[in-house]
Formats: sequence, C-alpha cells, structure tokens
Amino acid sequence: MPEPGPGEALVRVRAAAITRDELTWPVDRLPAIPSYELSGVVVEVAPDVDEVVSGDEVFALTPFDRDGAAAEYAAVPADTLAPKPQTLTYVESAALPLAGLSAYQGLFSRGGLSEGERVRVLGPTGGVGHLAVQLAGEQQAQGDEPYDLLFDTVGGEVLAGSVASARRVVSVAEEAEGVSYFIVEPNREQLVELARRADAGQLRPAIDSMFPLEQAEAAFARVAERGKRGKVVLRVAGD
Ligand SMILES: NC(=O)c1ccc[n+]([C@@H]2O[C@H](COP(=O)([O-])OP(=O)(O)OC[C@H]3O[C@@H](n4cnc5c(N)ncnc54)[C@H](OP(=O)(O)O)[C@@H]3O)[C@@H](O)[C@H]2O)c1
Repeated sequence: MPEPGPGEALVRVRAAAITRDELTWPVDRLPAIPSYELSGVVVEVAPDVDEVVSGDEVFALTPFDRDGAAAEYAAVPADTLAPKPQTLTYVESAALPLAGLSAYQGLFSRGGLSEGERVRVLGPTGGVGHLAVQLAGEQQAQGDEPYDLLFDTVGGEVLAGSVASARRVVSVAEEAEGVSYFIVEPNREQLVELARRADAGQLRPAIDSMFPLEQAEAAFARVAERGKRGKVVLRVAGD
C-alpha cells in the first residue's frame, strides 16, 4: 500500500489507461509500475492537502518520473487530480487524461491553433488522434484543403512525408527537424476543461478495448498493435 507523502492523495484506482510505447519511457528506475492516467476515488490525503478530500471521484494524468497507476492504489500529487466527468464511466474517464491533454496541448498550447485556422491530424483514429479530431471540430481540414497546423501522433515516414505541408508542425510521437516535439504535462485546469466538454457532450473518449488488471500483459500486446480505435484501458475495480 503506497503512503501519501506531503502534497499527495491516495487514490483507490478504478481504471487506468495505457499508451503505445510507454514501457520504453522509464529507463532509470526499473522495475516501474506502468500507466500514467487513472480514474478512481480518493481514500486518504496528506495533512497539507486541500485540493481534494476522501470520497472525491477523480481522474488524472500522473507525473512520468514516478510509479504509475496500474495498481489497486496509487499515491498521486493532489494538485494533478480533477473531478471526474460526471457523464463518463470510470473506464471512459481513465481514457481521457493523457491522450486528451496531449491533444489539447498539441493543438492549443503548443500548436497555437486560433479561430479561423485549419489543422490536420495524423493518426486520427488513435488514442491521441481521435480526441484531437474532436477538439479541433470544424477546424479540421477537409480533403485537400490547405491547413495551418499539422498535429502528428504517428511519427516515422508518415510524419516525414507531411512535414513540409504546414508552417507549424507539432508532434507527440517523434523529435524531428522542423517539428515542435513536446511531452505532455499534467494540468488540472485543462483537465477540468476536458471534463466540461465531455459533460457537455462535445468530447467522448473511444474505448478500443478493456482488460482486467490481471490481464495487463494482453493489454500491452493490444496497445502495441495497429488498427486500434481509441484507448486501451485496464479495469482495476468495479464496472
Ligand atoms: N510526447 C508525449 O507527451 C506523448 C503523449 C502521448 C502519446 N505519445 C506517443 O505518441 C504516439 C501516439 O500515441 P497514441 O496513444 O495515439 O497511439 P495509438 O493509439 O497507437 O495511435 C497511433 C495512430 O497512428 C496510426 N499509425 C499510422 N501509421 C502507423 C505506424 N507506422 N505505426 C503506428 N501507428 C501508425 C494508427 O492508425 P492505424 O494503426 O489504424 O493505421 C493510430 O491511429 C505513441 O508513440 C505514444 O507513445 C507521446
């Protein structure tokens, strides 16, 4: 059982989602608990925490430099926790933080997408891409329409073949010349905005597949495959 340190809350994890390639991320602190996004219920808080209280239903992107959320309980910095979207299940809520924040930050914080501009999303059915498409809404370039921003979630030859097509190219998949690559950051305010859009019916994470925590190995095999539609989620407890 993890102990919540200063500034932390202990969360009973209900669901935790995973991301392609994430097992290659921590190389300096193995073995590590994977999954960096969760939904669940706060069961304990450190004395200095005032962001959440026991019983709060929450969701979060958890920091990458510490153990993740593929566990029954996770100690999490309380300032990363946001109220879970009311209209989404725990499984759907866990599918939103990492991919949703990646899409939000890629389009708006990094990509600077402004009103009237057009964006093209590479990998539009993947975990990050399908949420970017929903967040871009009518600003998505149609057919051969020119676009101002290219948001890449694929990398490799797909990115290389498109990199010259836009003045601004942002990627979460690969560092390359002419590309503004970034690593998604926990952001409570932006999670609140994603939850607002979800509860307003404007944003809905697609669940490609769901596995019980005991079948995490099969879940990681699935997340490495092509042809997914949305996110792969580990169901830890409950529905
Ligand atoms: N830097 C960051 O902060 C950050 C944040 C989130 C994700 N990521 C990384 O960004 C990438 C995308 O994440 P994700 O969760 O959206 O992954 P995903 O769910 O696997 O989606 C990848 C998308 O790319 C498409 N694709 C086309 N050609 C591909 C190819 N050669 N290999 C793999 N996919 C191809 C896939 O579609 P089809 O298979 O149907 O063709 C799919 O739509 C991953 O590498 C992930 O680790 C980085």
